[in-house]
Amino acid sequence: MSILDNRAALKAEIDKVAEVAGYLWTKGWAERNGGNITVNITQWVDDAMRALPAISEPRPIGTVLPRLAGCWFYCKGTQKRMRDLARDPMANGSVIRILPDCAHYEIVADAPVAPTSELPSHLSVHNYLLAKGSPYRASLHTHPIELVALTHSKKWLEKDAATRMLWSMIPETKAFCPRGLGMVPYMLPSSVELADATIKAIDGDYDVVMWEKHGVFAVDTDIMSAFDQVDVLNKAAQIYLSARGMGFEPDGMTDAQMQELSDVFGLPK
Ligand code: 13P
Ligand code: ZN
Repeated sequence: MSILDNRAALKAEIDKVAEVAGYLWTKGWAERNGGNITVNITQWVDDAMRALPAISEPRPIGTVLPRLAGCWFYCKGTQKRMRDLARDPMANGSVIRILPDCAHYEIVADAPVAPTSELPSHLSVHNYLLAKGSPYRASLHTHPIELVALTHSKKWLEKDAATRMLWSMIPETKAFCPRGLGMVPYMLPSSVELADATIKAIDGDYDVVMWEKHGVFAVDTDIMSAFDQVDVLNKAAQIYLSARGMGFEPDGMTDAQMQELSDVFGLPK
């Protein structure tokens, strides 16, 4: 028995999570247990689900998130591998609900798999998105090789330096990641400080932010779209690094070409 049985819409969302987890592994972005995914599944919760008993004691989130009372999430399990999740999302992740105090959660299904250690960041961002009235329901943290490599240089940590370079590598980058790439300075993984800094960066109007020397954090309507944004940005980083590997600094698209693209596709400046 799974909570997904006879819940086609919810199962379709979790199937997307499993599909993305497989891509993360194939791309080499998900060594060991690296990366995590959460999806706000509250819109697919029915009365029968609401009546289910918890299968864990209440556990602290580590922070208080006023917009999340009564919300439900699918979460990758801590220490679980993306390559295993791709095969069996409900054995390598779990469904949790947030308690009315907005400070604790309990696991509801299918098995008592403890959620990702990055839960404070994921849930803080979901809280922020709801408060803003955003339609985004999925968040992804992963370790894309070339994007992480960029954050080892101060040059690319300057505000929007990486954004401009990445947009100029291939025209689709700006079209599909119109908000660019924010930067969060290094902070301890899984900390509430990292969660707070991530919200601050996303509030600067980014869908995708880098955690310096660690990974990327992306939000979008669903997990496939969040993955697409990271994939597009990392492809641009790969083109940059390929050119560098061939021994030259890539020219990038000209300012006039970028301007034309923004005008024609109606993108922000
Ligand atoms: P979890 O296994 O707890 O999800 O942690 C993986 C990770 O990438 C931490 O930043
Ligand atoms: Zn990580």
